[in-house]
Amino acid sequence: MNQIENKTTTIKKYDFPTDFWWGTAASATQTEGAAYEGGKGPNIWDHWYEVEPNRFFDGVSASVASDFYYQYKQDIALMKELGHNSFRLSISWSRLFPTGEGTINPEAVDFYNRVIDALIEAGIEPFVNLYHFDMPLALQEKGGWESREVVMHYVAYAKTCFELFGDRVGKWFTHNEPIVPVEGGYLYDFHYPNVVDFKRAVQVAYHSILSSALAIEAYRDTRQTGKIGIILNLTPSYPRSQNEADRQAAYLADILFNRSFLDPSVLGTFPAELIELLKEQDALPAMGETDRKKIETYTVDILGINYYQPRRIKVKEHLPNPKAPFMPEHLFDYYEMPGRKMNRHRGWEIYEKGVYDILTNLRENYGNIECFISENGMGVEGEERYRDTDGSIQDDYRIDFIAEHLKWVHHALEEGSNVKGYHLWTFMDNWSWSNAYKNRYGFVGVDLTNQTRTVKKSGYWFKHLIEENGFEG
Ligand code: BG6
Repeated sequence: MNQIENKTTTIKKYDFPTDFWWGTAASATQTEGAAYEGGKGPNIWDHWYEVEPNRFFDGVSASVASDFYYQYKQDIALMKELGHNSFRLSISWSRLFPTGEGTINPEAVDFYNRVIDALIEAGIEPFVNLYHFDMPLALQEKGGWESREVVMHYVAYAKTCFELFGDRVGKWFTHNEPIVPVEGGYLYDFHYPNVVDFKRAVQVAYHSILSSALAIEAYRDTRQTGKIGIILNLTPSYPRSQNEADRQAAYLADILFNRSFLDPSVLGTFPAELIELLKEQDALPAMGETDRKKIETYTVDILGINYYQPRRIKVKEHLPNPKAPFMPEHLFDYYEMPGRKMNRHRGWEIYEKGVYDILTNLRENYGNIECFISENGMGVEGEERYRDTDGSIQDDYRIDFIAEHLKWVHHALEEGSNVKGYHLWTFMDNWSWSNAYKNRYGFVGVDLTNQTRTVKKSGYWFKHLIEENGFEG
């Protein structure tokens, strides 16, 4: 068989349902800029940069970010040109309520109204997320997610958003990756307030879960007819071998990093093994009967899945010092699977089938909850070196990354998964917390010297994919 014949026989067409959501995701702090303008109050990122600028890649703050606050009209026009039918943004809590509570900032109401209206006018459905890592500083000073009072301020903020924008927004999300502020802020020192304390981390996690349930309750009380969900970063946990000890280690990692949020959000309960483990570590938060009932009752309508990488787990080979304060890694070790494919820029394994395993797990064990891929993407450092003479970035690696993941999404769909869409992280290169502009993720490149945008090759490839509602590969 010659090569051409061979090619024609192996190429497959991946068609998606006609109402599939295609688009991208972003967040307020990472894109808006105008951090000290428009009446916005400081959040923990503004503050952390002020006190420790050297913790941020190249010393770049979020004060300008990708200038979305000023360029949203052109950016939305570009999303339209690239075929988006949906886009996820987040509201900056400290823009709407400069101190996190009390008086609303009218300039923020005006800004988000303009953004939402512009999206709708462009035929792009706004998916709105309420919390993407950006606690108002004034509330962090009151204890942040460790404080019950802050949970109640969050619920008031959520309610205000539903009242202000719910006539036009039909997809709401309570949190993006709520485990990340727990890990970053209270376990591994990559978010403010840079605490390392398992018990406090669990309290933060518990309050985030409770706040999500209470926001869902507030949404249902409005009698609006949209859907409300949560966005979780899921990291399938694969054991090194089928030995009982490796499997048990992977099981524990799954409970701690996935099921800790997935079970309460979708099923309304916590895994019994998690409760046991927290009791053993004297880290079980006090959970009143009323809270338990709220978590049980107010589960999500829809789940967003952020998928970047799996976890490769093996049994703990060297026992931790019994006097060392408890950390999740006392229960298992990570291992590097030989031959694995890597995004070397980010240091993350690329394992496309992971997305299928997540979707299959949701279908089999979580009532086939309505879901979508809310983030997936490839961060690359120094993308400039892929710039062609015509000025565009030839990011074939990103096209390949997306296509290979979509093949597995398609396979899950064929088997009956309730997956409704795919959003890339992200629309345009943006400011990524302490990594600032190190890794570029966008379909659209941003030149930070003058804030101009250039569509990358992948952006046009995605536009074509949306037009065809599928691709060949
Ligand atoms: C996701 C977050 O976890 O990862 C985004 O939701 C973040 O906010 C993205 O920007 C990429 O992170 P990084 O650190 O690779 O730039």
